[in-house]
Amino acid sequence: MKVKRVAVIGAGTMGHGIAYVAALAGCKVRLTDAQPDALALAMSKIESLLEGGLKRGKITEQKRNQVHERVRAEPLLGAAVATADIVIEAIVEDLAIKQRLFVDVERAAPPGALLATNTSSLSIGQIASTMTHPARLVGMHFFNPVYVMKLVEVVTHRRDSRAATERAVEFARQLGKEPIVVRDSPGFASSRLGVVLGLEAMRMLEKGVASAEDIDKAMELGYNHPMGPLKLTDLIGLDVRLAIAEYLHATLGKPQYEPPKILKEKVKKGELGKKTGKGFYTWSD
Ligand code: NAI
Repeated sequence: MKVKRVAVIGAGTMGHGIAYVAALAGCKVRLTDAQPDALALAMSKIESLLEGGLKRGKITEQKRNQVHERVRAEPLLGAAVATADIVIEAIVEDLAIKQRLFVDVERAAPPGALLATNTSSLSIGQIASTMTHPARLVGMHFFNPVYVMKLVEVVTHRRDSRAATERAVEFARQLGKEPIVVRDSPGFASSRLGVVLGLEAMRMLEKGVASAEDIDKAMELGYNHPMGPLKLTDLIGLDVRLAIAEYLHATLGKPQYEPPKILKEKVKKGELGKKTGKGFYTWSD
């Protein structure tokens, strides 16, 4: 059954992107956030995405108007989720805060609504552990920027239901995404592999094996990766990568997840990648 109404909680980098693709796919979207400023900013980012799409001929004027009509900012959580078929959470990456939120969402959303978290690293089972009906929750891990990246990791957990997983897979397809199903385990399938490559590239840079540009070129031209691991780290954010590496090192206990010195030092200096203008590369905008 097609999803018609979507609630997105958290209107930051991921939330505005998820709201945008859901509206493009024909859903009515209610976007909510604890910060009213974040909601206003998210609506203006959606506006820019629409204008950009229109200019590049990717979307029609009719589509732009439809998306305008479909997405609404809703400051109240209860009102945002009240009629949703699916609720997607994209708030701060903090276990206790997400647990508290889902207790509230479970009460306010219709009993048949599917609940999904976009966490990039936390255990879905732990987030679900404080819920009355944990089987309603699945992980739906989108990638940034949401309107470009095809992958959605649908993450199952010990107490989930097959129906919830299937609905999440179908919804991802409805959005034009390619879902994969992954068991709840640290780093899921994406970060667990990707972080190893990124951290090893940093260790090679530390040892002077090659320059950042040449390490990236090795993977781009030799292995057909669209982007080298150091440039990708700059786009993701060095602070984000460090946090994931620390989490994976703590949970999986394997030496390949130990954050290299160069990463810790750069984060300490505020060299967080593209968002601060400097990481392994210097960025001009
Ligand atoms: P962000 O910091 O850009 O946005 C988070 C938003 O959530 C903020 O606007 C904040 O005001 C709001 N918020 C915080 N607590 C709230 C609450 N209790 N109720 C309602 N709103 C609340 O964060 P971002 O990057 O969008 O990440 C959101 C989630 O998505 C995190 O779990 C993150 O790990 C995950 N994620 C992030 C990716 C990325 O590349 N940034 C990629 C994939 C997943």
